[in-house]
Amino acid sequence: MKILSIETSCDETAVALLEITGERENPKIKILGNSLFSQVALHEQYGGVYPMLAKREHEKNLPILLEKTLTEAGFPLPAKGGAGEGLSVDLIAVTAGPGLEPALWAGITFAEELGKKWGKPVVPVDHMEGHIWSVMYGGNSKLDLPALALLVSGGHTELVLIKGFGQYEILGHTVDDAVGEAFDKVARMLGLTYPGGPKISILAQKSRESGRELNFKLPRPMIHSDNLNFSYSGLKTAVLYKIKAEGRSDDEFKEDVAREFENAAIEVLISKTRKALLDEAGEAKTLIVAGGVAANAHLNAEVHKLIQEFPDLTLKLPERSLATDNAVMIGIAGFIRVQNDLDILNTQSEIRARGNLTLGS
Ligand code: KG4
Ligand code: ZN
Repeated sequence: MKILSIETSCDETAVALLEITGERENPKIKILGNSLFSQVALHEQYGGVYPMLAKREHEKNLPILLEKTLTEAGFPLPAKGGAGEGLSVDLIAVTAGPGLEPALWAGITFAEELGKKWGKPVVPVDHMEGHIWSVMYGGNSKLDLPALALLVSGGHTELVLIKGFGQYEILGHTVDDAVGEAFDKVARMLGLTYPGGPKISILAQKSRESGRELNFKLPRPMIHSDNLNFSYSGLKTAVLYKIKAEGRSDDEFKEDVAREFENAAIEVLISKTRKALLDEAGEAKTLIVAGGVAANAHLNAEVHKLIQEFPDLTLKLPERSLATDNAVMIGIAGFIRVQNDLDILNTQSEIRARGNLTLGS
C-alpha cells in the first residue's frame, strides 16, 4: 500500500510517501520520500507560534514539499498537475487534530484537493496516534498489545493504555503545562531560543560531565500523588525563582539549572510510568515512549533503566528523527487506521479540523 501523508498541526510542514506491506502488528515500512520544513525561525521573531501565520506558511510550503517528496521518490509531478508519472497512491493520510485549527485546515484542504484530483481516499489521523505508531518504523519485532504509551511532546504529557489497535484509554495527563512546553519555557528563562528542549539537554549534559555536585534541589510536582496525572507549571516557576534568587547568568549556573530541571521533569515521568506498569497497565507487554521529548538522551537512559525492573516488557522508542513532528508517523497511523476499518476507504465523509481531539474520543 502506498500512502501519501501530510502533517501541519503546529509549526512543521511535512509530507511523506510511504510503502507499507505486511500486517499491522509488524508492518514493513519503506520511506520513499520524506520532506519537512520547520517554521521555527519565522515564529522565533514573535516569541511564539501564531496560528494564522503558521497556516499561511503551510499553504505556501505544501506544494513545494509535495513536489520534493515525489521527486525524491522518483515520481516527479507532471507540469500540469495530476499524479506523478507512474505513481499510484492508494490513500492520503492527513492530521485532523489535535493542534492549531487554522494550521490543521491548511493540511486538510490540501489533502482533500489532492484526493479529488487523484481520485483517492483521504483518511483523517490523530496526531497523537501518529506519535504512538512512529515506533513501528525500523522495528524488526512484532508489537505486542496491550501496551502502555508515555506520550511527551510540546502540547501533551499523557499515559495511554493501548488495549488494541485504535482502542485507547488515557490513564493520566498533565493538569497544566506539557513537559515539552516546560523545557521550552525554562530554556527561554536561560536565554535559549525555541525549541529549547534539545538545548536544555546539551547544557544538562555539560553539567553532568563536569562532575560538579548540585547544591540545590527543584520540586518533583505530583510525584507522590495518588493518580497518574502530571503538573509542570510549578516546576517552571521554581526555576524562575531560583534564577531570580541567585541573580547569576554564568555558564556553570545555567548548566546546573538545566540539569536539575531535567532530573526533576524526568524523574516524575519515570515514577508515574512505573506506577502505571505496577497497577492499571499491569497487563502491558510493550512500553512505548514517543513524542518530541522522547528524543531526550537523559529520558532515554532512564527509560532503559526502568525497563530492567520489568523483564517481560518490551521497550519501543521512535528513531530519533521520528520523535519530533513529521509526516512519516502520520502515514503509519493512516495505515493502521485503514487496517482497522477498511470501510473507511469507501465511506468518505468531510474531514474537519479538531484542535482539541483526544485519543479514544
Ligand atoms: O512532538 P513534537 O515535535 O511537537 C508536538 O507535538 O508538540 O514535540 C516538540 C517538543 C518541544 O517542546 C521540544 O522542546 C521538545 O519536544 N524536544 C525535546 C528534545 N527534542 C525536542 N525536549 C527535551 N529534549 C530533547 N532532546
Ligand atoms: Zn507532535
